[in-house]
Amino acid sequence: MGEKKIVYNECTTRRKILKGMLGIAGVGALGGLTLSFGTIKSPSNKKKRQKVAKGDKLVFAVGPNAGKLINMKDLPLKKGILAFPKGKEEHNNLILLFHAEEKEFQKPTKIGYTVEGFCAYSAICTHMGCTVEWYPQKQFSFDFPHLFCPCHQSVFDVFHGAKVLAGPAPRPLPQLPLMIADNTISAAGDFDGPIGPKQGVE
Ligand code: FES
Repeated sequence: MGEKKIVYNECTTRRKILKGMLGIAGVGALGGLTLSFGTIKSPSNKKKRQKVAKGDKLVFAVGPNAGKLINMKDLPLKKGILAFPKGKEEHNNLILLFHAEEKEFQKPTKIGYTVEGFCAYSAICTHMGCTVEWYPQKQFSFDFPHLFCPCHQSVFDVFHGAKVLAGPAPRPLPQLPLMIADNTISAAGDFDGPIGPKQGVE
């Protein structure tokens, strides 16, 4: 985990978005590479990942609490964080976990995959594999919580199954079923679709 350059920003500024656009030029020049705020994997990367299983506890992926179990009280309403399934901390298992009012979730969100307002999607963009970021409030024309990919500005609707609202991402982010045990948040199974760009990682 130490060598991964995944940086999570709760509130990316326009300056950082500009940096992202500059980073795109770098992608063209160098192929798959790591940016300061998101990791790009080669679209041809078919490496298998460790499947997430029922009961896998979620841990903080980054920051001072990295590796620590995520407790319900760690996520007040409107907060989103990056997480890993404990023991399976690899890029393709990176999760965006957030907390919202239960009544906000609509189909095609799998409501049964959420628990007490907690919901999780793959944090790997389906376009080119950058790490998506949590936006709890207004940005551009979106005045509701959404996920944003800083690499090419894809926007995903967290209340409607992470469907694509803008940008080049070709499909929604896979959803991860959740459960709660002893006040900690765990996976209740694997993602409901392939991870990342193109054909995705199974
Ligand atoms: S990697 Fe291109 S929009 Fe996310």
